Amino acid sequence: MYTSPSRLPEEARSAVAQALNARLADGLDLHGQIKVAHWNIKGPQFPGLHPLFETFAVSLAGHNDAIAERAVTLGGRAYGTARHVASRSRLPEYPQETTRDIEHVRLLAERIELYLEGVRDARAAAEKHGDIDTVDLLTGIVTEFEKHAWFLRASLE
Ligand SMILES: [Fe+2]
Repeated sequence: MYTSPSRLPEEARSAVAQALNARLADGLDLHGQIKVAHWNIKGPQFPGLHPLFETFAVSLAGHNDAIAERAVTLGGRAYGTARHVASRSRLPEYPQETTRDIEHVRLLAERIELYLEGVRDARAAAEKHGDIDTVDLLTGIVTEFEKHAWFLRASLE
């Protein structure tokens, strides 16, 4: 572990950095999958969904960066190569032959919900270790991506 401005003990910082890296792997994978949906979507809902997916991707890229930098701030490292992500992400592979708009909505809703499960787990780990600043960071992500999941689920109803 690197030295850190955090006042948390090294054991806590190490555990939280590990939880953050797991979320970084999922988040980088999800980002790529959202872009695949953004590029390949076809159908009557294209005009609304193509730009909507891009807003999800841009926002997630910012969160991935914040998660990575929080891990390093705590004295850890940030792991994010494509090969590392492919071996660690808990998301299933995206079916890249998909074109139909509503099918992309369903696939992304499922994946965002899986991503959220992981973020909530990481938040619980941070809470257990007394890292309320990481809890705060992750809560912002949960709030925003629950809203995105709601947009998608509402489109399916
Ligand atoms: Fe684009």
